[in-house]
Amino acid sequence: FTAEIDATDIEKGTYPHFMLKEIDEQPFVIRKIIQKYQDDHDNIKLDSEVRQAMLDTDRVYIIAAGTSYHAGLVGKQFIEKLANVPVEVHIASEFSYNMPLLSEKPLFVFISQSGETADSRSVLVRIKELGHPSLTITNVPGSTLSREANYTLHLHAGPEIAVASTKAYTAQIAVLAILAVDTAQAKGIDLSFDPLQELGIVASVMESLTDQKEEFEEIAKEFFSETRNAFYIGRGMDYFIVQEASLKLKEISYIQAEGFAGGELKHGTIALIEEGTPVIALSTQANVNYSIRGNVQEVAARGAKTCIISIEGLEQESDTFVLPHVHELLTPLVSVVPMQLLAYYAALHRECDVDKPRNLAKSVTVE
Ligand code: G6P
Repeated sequence: FTAEIDATDIEKGTYPHFMLKEIDEQPFVIRKIIQKYQDDHDNIKLDSEVRQAMLDTDRVYIIAAGTSYHAGLVGKQFIEKLANVPVEVHIASEFSYNMPLLSEKPLFVFISQSGETADSRSVLVRIKELGHPSLTITNVPGSTLSREANYTLHLHAGPEIAVASTKAYTAQIAVLAILAVDTAQAKGIDLSFDPLQELGIVASVMESLTDQKEEFEEIAKEFFSETRNAFYIGRGMDYFIVQEASLKLKEISYIQAEGFAGGELKHGTIALIEEGTPVIALSTQANVNYSIRGNVQEVAARGAKTCIISIEGLEQESDTFVLPHVHELLTPLVSVVPMQLLAYYAALHRECDVDKPRNLAKSVTVE
């Protein structure tokens, strides 16, 4: 497996931090994934055993931790909406305490950058005892979770060195999209869009975003220089991205941050909003655009300092940043990039150790 590793992958080069380098690598990773999962006729090509496992199951159980769990939340939407297969997403460390009633033909999908997370492995051991099939989606094909599962899909993201995961997260989402599309096609579902072409557009948009770093550095300075806490809000698909956005900020800048469902704020959390509290809202989905903007007004009226990141077609003049258009289902791949850069610059300006944040490890091999 080392054949895929280039010496430049594990060196910072001219970059001050691995995290920034890895954020910048995301367009290349998406293109690599397109290339790796494409056949000679530009169609998606997936291992036939994985395809069969997806066709055989009546319910997918995604098991993951941290950032990989957040990718799983997005993956559920892809698999349910495109391939019409029900999906549950579980935090690995909680699974054994709150084990759900399993369907007749479950398929367990482990998402793990490292393939070594002990919390996920203990679920794999348990479900193997029960005789259920498993697929691992990982950046390290020779890893424990990969070796011990029945099937593996490789992320092709190259080594990720910074503790805070960036390119592995977007690679996970891209591979989950490919898995969902492949299953849909195998079931004869007409998708009415060309997934690989849309992923190509995503890669170009990612590049345009990483070319605008100064903009995100300015926003980070304005919103995060002084604050002790911050809120990110979103609805629908955006809710999953704001959860990842807040995790990124917490991990490396130590700002207490929460990613919240816009509509749930009023049921308690809005009590925390005071003069100057930063609230970053994400709006990339037509069906939530109106409501999330309502939530922004509610918090602004209580003194919050607000910022809206929207997308072409849904934007309003006062928005802080407008993302270029991509296919609506694939918006997580581009909307997370500003969030990663905001966290990076927040940590940088607060003089935190960006690549090696306190108390955290890249791969957690204890439960
Ligand atoms: C650790 C890392 C996180 C990561 C999580 C899951 O806590 O600090 O960044 O998301 O483990 O790791 P995995 O390798 O299973 O994706």
